[in-house]
Amino acid sequence: MNRRELLKLGGILAVSAGLPALTNAAPTPMAGGIFYTKGKPGRWAGREATHVPILSTTQTQNGIVLNVVNNSHPMEAYQHYIVKHVILDADFNFGAEKLFNPSVDKQASSSFNLGNYKGVVHVLSVCNLHDTWLTAIQI
Ligand SMILES: [Fe+2]
Repeated sequence: MNRRELLKLGGILAVSAGLPALTNAAPTPMAGGIFYTKGKPGRWAGREATHVPILSTTQTQNGIVLNVVNNSHPMEAYQHYIVKHVILDADFNFGAEKLFNPSVDKQASSSFNLGNYKGVVHVLSVCNLHDTWLTAIQI
């Protein structure tokens, strides 16, 4: 992420901090149909473990880094792979994304510097076969 993208993300996240966020437990008719969560896997039930991204944070001198990884999800060339990770603010405004090249990337792993942001970040993980999965983290 370049400096311009970071500043944009920081601005977006700062503006929306404190607004209600969608979590895995939040009831919505879209979960399990249009997108999927750990609690609402819909037609992809049983595939939660590899498609719901695992989130962690690391404090650095430049702020908080959000780490996103899909454990054990195949990266089998273009047959089955994680296409990208996307981070969104509490209002689901785009923040940043990481695209994967399955012929090079052996694991879907990304990191996003959030600066000094405090609040909710939504994270999407997009599989070419099993659609879009959502999770969130409170920073
Ligand atoms: Fe998949």
